[in-house]
Amino acid sequence: MPSLSERYRAAREELARFGQEHVLAFWDRLADSQRAQLLDDIGQIDLARCAALVETHVRRKPAVHVPASIEPPDVFPADPDADRLSLYQEARRAGVAAIRAGRVAAFTVAGGQGTRLGFAGPKGAFAISPVRNATLFQLFAESLRGVERRYGCRPRWYIMTSLTNHDQTLQFFAENGFFGLSADEVFFFRQGQMPAFLPDGRIALTEMHRVALSPDGHGGSLRALASSGALEDMRRRGIDVISYFQVDNPLVRVIDPLFIGLHLLNGSEMSSKAVHKAYDTERVGVFCLIDGRLGVIEYSDLPNELAKARNPDGSRRFDAGSIAIHIIDRAFVERLTAPGATVQLPWHRAEKKVNTVDEQGRAVVPEIPNAVKLEMFVFDAIPLARNPLVLYTHRQEEFSPVKNADGVDSPATAKRDMIRRAARWLESCGATVPRGADGEPAMPLEISPAYALDVEDLHERLHEPVHLTPGRPFLLA
Ligand code: UD1
Repeated sequence: MPSLSERYRAAREELARFGQEHVLAFWDRLADSQRAQLLDDIGQIDLARCAALVETHVRRKPAVHVPASIEPPDVFPADPDADRLSLYQEARRAGVAAIRAGRVAAFTVAGGQGTRLGFAGPKGAFAISPVRNATLFQLFAESLRGVERRYGCRPRWYIMTSLTNHDQTLQFFAENGFFGLSADEVFFFRQGQMPAFLPDGRIALTEMHRVALSPDGHGGSLRALASSGALEDMRRRGIDVISYFQVDNPLVRVIDPLFIGLHLLNGSEMSSKAVHKAYDTERVGVFCLIDGRLGVIEYSDLPNELAKARNPDGSRRFDAGSIAIHIIDRAFVERLTAPGATVQLPWHRAEKKVNTVDEQGRAVVPEIPNAVKLEMFVFDAIPLARNPLVLYTHRQEEFSPVKNADGVDSPATAKRDMIRRAARWLESCGATVPRGADGEPAMPLEISPAYALDVEDLHERLHEPVHLTPGRPFLLA
């Protein structure tokens, strides 16, 4: 291990090469532990990559490519029409065969900071289920156990964390006995970090000994899959299909045979699920054909006239909202991340408020955005993929994210939607669900995904009639 002063000299030389030596400006005022921390932060930064980005994305806004055409894409329907009935049946069979053969892994991106929710821990540790208060991570683990019960093979689980929540995430799994999984079935890895930049291109410090680092966006997951050894781990185990989802959606169908099968039969490298948008300005990315190629335009980038555009029959023209659920081929990630790969995900620039220090080292708390952050988005890989497809799913079955502390996409709406879904499934199995004057079920209801993965699964498992009493929580686990 090189000494602190050797590390300092190497870092200073490297920073100077890229005009970033100010990062060490307070060195003489730091204790040794702070110096070590600062050198660790510097070690996280790819200075050569940052130097190029400073020119293209920080000192000026990146050139925006204005597409010649933006059209709505073809989307596979959630329920097959007569023409597609046999395709969907075949797809389901192909998906089940891939799961049984151990070719499919679950992949959760959980590196985000959950600022909007106002929850300090990793978001996956947030308790959400209506009866047991099970956490998001527990529900996903139970889904994997449900898949094993139903298809005879438990998919391996890859979880991407970030530097800030990695240790807490590991500890949370350890404290909870890995939710019935074994520790070696879950592969945790950290995503990359990017520094925030001041408008002149200098790397921002949040304290005299801390670089303003934050996760490099979920698009960084592709690179992190490669650099962490996760891809290699998949290759060794014969896993070639990655079922990608975000940590914030308790309704997600973690492993979906139909979706996997359509992806395989279509020869797709990256497939996506969509829901019909709830309203024009809903904060979801929208699937579009951009100059003839499928892609997602993020809600913040979608021009208002496109968000509001209507078809002649009055329906919304750009209606396929991204719920950030994808099937991704391992080989596609390998192709994008191979040394010397010619394609790269683009960087998105956001102007943010970042606490910094002034030249004397005094804390500066900005009132307006003072720094530039750069992130990659995973959906930017879609236009790079062969035969990408989009499949609609039913929102009430599969999408109710926990993003905000209250209002839309909050714990309250996610719990409500979990209860509504359980009620629908039970009713479809012949139960009578007592409802209040507002039409909502008159008691909290919960069906663990370990017990039933979907309504067909529930049909097969429920052999006794279910009796529900108003006010009495009901649980199938
Ligand atoms: C995201 C999508 C949006 C989609 C919506 C569906 C983006 C930019 N937008 O919006 O198109 O319709 O979800 O719910 O993603 N994450 C990381 N590392 C990071 C950043 C994020 O792992 O560096 C993870 C988070 O832990 C979370 C997910 O990515 O699981 C989404 O991130 P978030 O920033 O909350 O995206 P949204 O704006 O909600």
